[in-house]
Amino acid sequence: MKSPIKPETLLACLLAVAGIACGPSSQAAALPLHLVPVPQSVETQPGELQISGAVAVDAAEAAPDAKRALAEALAGLGIARDDAAATRIHLQLVEDAALGEEGYRLVVADDIRLSAQTDVGLLHAVQSLRQLLPARAQPGYALPHVVITDAPAYRWRGLSLDVARSFLPVEYLQKTIDRMAFFKLNRLHLHLTDDQGWRIEIKRYPKLVEIGGASAVKGGRSGFYTQEELRELVAYAQARGITLVPEIDMPGHVQAALASYNELACDDVENLSPYSGLEVGFSVLCLDKPEVVYPFVRNVLEEVLAVFPSKEIHIGGDEIKHPLYADFVARTAAMVEEMGRTAIAWEEGSVADTNPDVVFQLWNDGYDISAAVAKGHPLILSPCSYFYIDHGNYAGQPETYDWCRKEGVPLARLYGFDPAPFTTAVGIEAALWTELVHTDAAADNRLWPRLAATAELAWSPAGQRGYAGFVQRVGALRGHLDAMGIDYHAEPDLGWAK
Ligand code: ACM
Repeated sequence: MKSPIKPETLLACLLAVAGIACGPSSQAAALPLHLVPVPQSVETQPGELQISGAVAVDAAEAAPDAKRALAEALAGLGIARDDAAATRIHLQLVEDAALGEEGYRLVVADDIRLSAQTDVGLLHAVQSLRQLLPARAQPGYALPHVVITDAPAYRWRGLSLDVARSFLPVEYLQKTIDRMAFFKLNRLHLHLTDDQGWRIEIKRYPKLVEIGGASAVKGGRSGFYTQEELRELVAYAQARGITLVPEIDMPGHVQAALASYNELACDDVENLSPYSGLEVGFSVLCLDKPEVVYPFVRNVLEEVLAVFPSKEIHIGGDEIKHPLYADFVARTAAMVEEMGRTAIAWEEGSVADTNPDVVFQLWNDGYDISAAVAKGHPLILSPCSYFYIDHGNYAGQPETYDWCRKEGVPLARLYGFDPAPFTTAVGIEAALWTELVHTDAAADNRLWPRLAATAELAWSPAGQRGYAGFVQRVGALRGHLDAMGIDYHAEPDLGWAK
């Protein structure tokens, strides 16, 4: 950042943190620049743009999502639209290879110009503009003259949500998508199946949701999503720049499937009841019955792929030991490829002989993935001691795990992750497992503000990052989090402790 923050804006920010309103109401003071993730380049320039009445919006027809996002942002701030207004906001599609698929430029001068090569790039520009503006309506607005040029470091900036152990309602997923978009996160990975529940309707196997959808972890919520609901959610997310990535976890973590269709288990398996406990690694599709298992896998994947257009499809592959495990991963990944998509598997899947475009998701700290890296396999980085946010926001937080790191995963810890050594990484994903997360409020508490730190690690160049600056910037966005109704953890590092 060429000019990180002006002294006067720092003062305004300090006053705001102290809860003292600042700036005269007729001529609003220029607002501080508190962008998360921090952009590639921010050049502040002398002067400011006052917005006191309506604005005109000049939006490219080919960018309907950004146009809608801007309209919603302006309406939320009570800024009226009038084609004859002196202040104009331009949304422009431009050819500028340096911006890539998702980059954008945002210029505030006598008017506001957002430009990008794609609608998604413009969506990100609109989110930056939202962050430059206050969280709530006020009589006037002033923006510092600034030129922001920005593009992501990684193409995969994700959250994995376990909706299998404890179900999360569609409305909560929509809210989470909106909040992720605000921080330019772009992948929502849904862990749709596990021992404790099967959450996606599969029309050829109705009992998967009739039986498998009716269970949950003890104390958690049960339920399932119809394919229609998921299609609508896919569209909702796409319009906000987010791809939904489905996971069908196989060949282990399948007790809900076995309880629904007993023939998927080997004949000597006695316990075929729905499961609500916390153990892992005990259930497995009967790999000795390929004539039963592979048609099931193919039929399920066909329906899943018809709902989710994502190029990458997660096939699970964690926490199961079986002599035919590697063969299963190789066959299933090849099946996904045959269907025109690319498989993701948890790190253990790297023992299988797969095409080098198969993606592995790291989760155990220190897992030796070097052989897969040598073959060129892309990686998604979720090492548990940084990104397992079912772990506490602080050591000893009630209803959190600590098996990976006994001190939990505080904000500063997560922010301190360095992705640079992972040369084939395509990005970073935080993971919220829900054995101990049974309400929307608990989910919010685990996600925020740690997802904002995940977003910055995955989007911003290393040279611009730094915890002190992050704390100052995300701290200043508290009003935006409040306006979005987020029930975040009152993080003491941000001065949010109650
Ligand atoms: C995992 O935590 N079993 C991927």
